[in-house]
Amino acid sequence: MHAWSPSSWRQRTALQLPSYPDPNALKDVETRLAALPPLIFPGEITQLKSRLAAVSRRQAFLLQGGDCAESFDELGQMPVESTFRVMLQMAVVLTYAAACPVIKVGRIAGQFAKPRSSETETQQGLTLPSYRGDIINGADFDVAARTPDPQRLLTAYSHSAATLNLLRALAQGGFADLHRVHGWTADFVRRSPQGERFEELADRITESLAFMEACGFDADKAPQLHAVEFYTSHEALHLHYEQALTRHDDGTGRAYGASAHMLWLGERTRAIDGAHVEFLRGIDNAVGVKLGPSAKPADVLALLDALDPDQEPGRIVLIARMGSERVREALPPLLRAVRDAGRTPVWCCDPMHGNTVTASNGYKTRDFARVLDEVCGFFAAHEEAGTYPGGLHFEMTGQDVTECRGGAQELTDESLASRYRSACDPRLNGSQSLELAFLIADVLKAARQRR
Ligand code: TRP
Ligand code: MN
Repeated sequence: MHAWSPSSWRQRTALQLPSYPDPNALKDVETRLAALPPLIFPGEITQLKSRLAAVSRRQAFLLQGGDCAESFDELGQMPVESTFRVMLQMAVVLTYAAACPVIKVGRIAGQFAKPRSSETETQQGLTLPSYRGDIINGADFDVAARTPDPQRLLTAYSHSAATLNLLRALAQGGFADLHRVHGWTADFVRRSPQGERFEELADRITESLAFMEACGFDADKAPQLHAVEFYTSHEALHLHYEQALTRHDDGTGRAYGASAHMLWLGERTRAIDGAHVEFLRGIDNAVGVKLGPSAKPADVLALLDALDPDQEPGRIVLIARMGSERVREALPPLLRAVRDAGRTPVWCCDPMHGNTVTASNGYKTRDFARVLDEVCGFFAAHEEAGTYPGGLHFEMTGQDVTECRGGAQELTDESLASRYRSACDPRLNGSQSLELAFLIADVLKAARQRR
């Protein structure tokens, strides 16, 4: 195999990258980014891989979630904190049900670039570049906003740094303490059926802690009760940005991506001879690969050989996004091929991206029931193949948005308009996310009882 370097992807075909009007301005920004501190340290990446290795040994479960795309306008404590608290709630529900550790990974602090099916968008006779995420251009439909601007890479870096700083504080600074489990429920969720169900679970946890402490257990000496490990991830789409944030690990002598703990390849950028695979094969991070219904067993095996030739435990997360109607027939051949090759990547279910539809009034939406159905199909396919359904990948937010239909709130096409805030794909809101966690917890509990 040819030599890898942080820039060797430039010899390959790079899909989904913008063309900048001024290449020198881009180069200048890349130089500045390369001189900035890493956002992530190699030891944290190693730690995430060891957690994912536990998932592949069936001893833990992965929960990955966050916005479809983060936005520069949403930099404040509220959006980040609300997503974080729903992740904590979902994690508690799943940890309790499955009685196994839940590895928490956000689609956050760097999820700014979006692949698009069309280079351009036309409105009323005017054709402009498609919106590709805030790291590339703006969503407004005018020439200034849609022209790719390299300065946005620097904004993405500082936005990520600020978000990551907040996440580290939330994860380690007391907010995530199990003694504070009652405080994570948002007001709009508290009054709902799943809000009430969560309060019951929180009561049980609080009682158990009090009981253990009354028995002499010293909670102050158990740091794991007071904090969580929280990891970040995003799609490694913008390779100029990712290359500029590649750093050298003096400990291992290897390169690592310093923009997030885990990076993933999209369904549209996983061509085996393409630039994105070339870049990711050389960095040390945990790597996700999105797999849609057209993925062939041979494609998956070739990707595993390219990205993980040494079969390192915890290195690869295969993220299936088949659609609720396809998952039961499209997933089993892949599971069998990977199993028969003797590989044990983490298998994760993304029940969002294969279930996007357009509502009667033009909104992009997803049905809660289909999301749940794909998760059930994912579990069934693993049961059949004798493999382990290791995780879930959601597009969700803690906020009270109206973007996906259904759920106990029974959101309809008409209600979508009231608080549809996503610039990209529709997300589960705080209440739907928690409801889904409870329904999946029931599936996990049933699976545990069968064992
Ligand atoms: N640290 C443990 C864990 O992450 C227990 C824990 C503390 C926890 N706070 C939490 C679990 C919040 C879920 C959610 O599993
Ligand atoms: Mn999306």
